[in-house]
Amino acid sequence: MDRRAFIINTSLTAFAVSTFGTVLGCKKEDLLESDGVAKFVGDCETTNDILGPFYRPDAPIRSDLTCEVTGNIITLKGQILADDCVTPIEQAQIEIWHCDTQGDYDNSSPDFLQRGRLLTDAEGNYAFKTILPGKYLNGQLYRPAHIHFRVTAEGKREIISQVYFEGDPDIAADPWASKEAAKLRILDMIPEDVNGGITVHFDIYMVSE
Ligand SMILES: [Fe+2]
Repeated sequence: MDRRAFIINTSLTAFAVSTFGTVLGCKKEDLLESDGVAKFVGDCETTNDILGPFYRPDAPIRSDLTCEVTGNIITLKGQILADDCVTPIEQAQIEIWHCDTQGDYDNSSPDFLQRGRLLTDAEGNYAFKTILPGKYLNGQLYRPAHIHFRVTAEGKREIISQVYFEGDPDIAADPWASKEAAKLRILDMIPEDVNGGITVHFDIYMVSE
């Protein structure tokens, strides 16, 4: 069957109650717009988004963020590449952070729940195992589910941004996710195996300084 046939296009609400969910037991402003420097080849530029108020520095170096949390397990993975859209960037640091299923960020515990960072391998690959984030209110509207990320690499301009999920009904009204610049950061969730594993693929492209 065509892989595309598996792509989930239903809303996140529907997704959250689907049979793909897995509970695993184991050990959350300033708008940063792209400055419009057109150095990218083709349509690969990774645009910036808001940092948000819940960033914490010094997150643990780890790829598995599922310890001591529950939720639908997802793998967020891809390559970090240069602005020619093809050259991998080795030793780029990517860190991610997001809320739990209840919409809460771990802003103070030493466990840095749902927070981690790692370095890319020689092919620019990164992969995080984590959970599908919940939602929280921004004023009277829920922000769509999202994962914040920050990427740094020698000689490259820092990227601070967020990814969202296709089919999320709260994207349209969100001031940031609904921007044209966010289009390439709204990602499909792809069931990868019979155990309910979900993969979200996201390549990141960095402009040279
Ligand atoms: Fe957030």
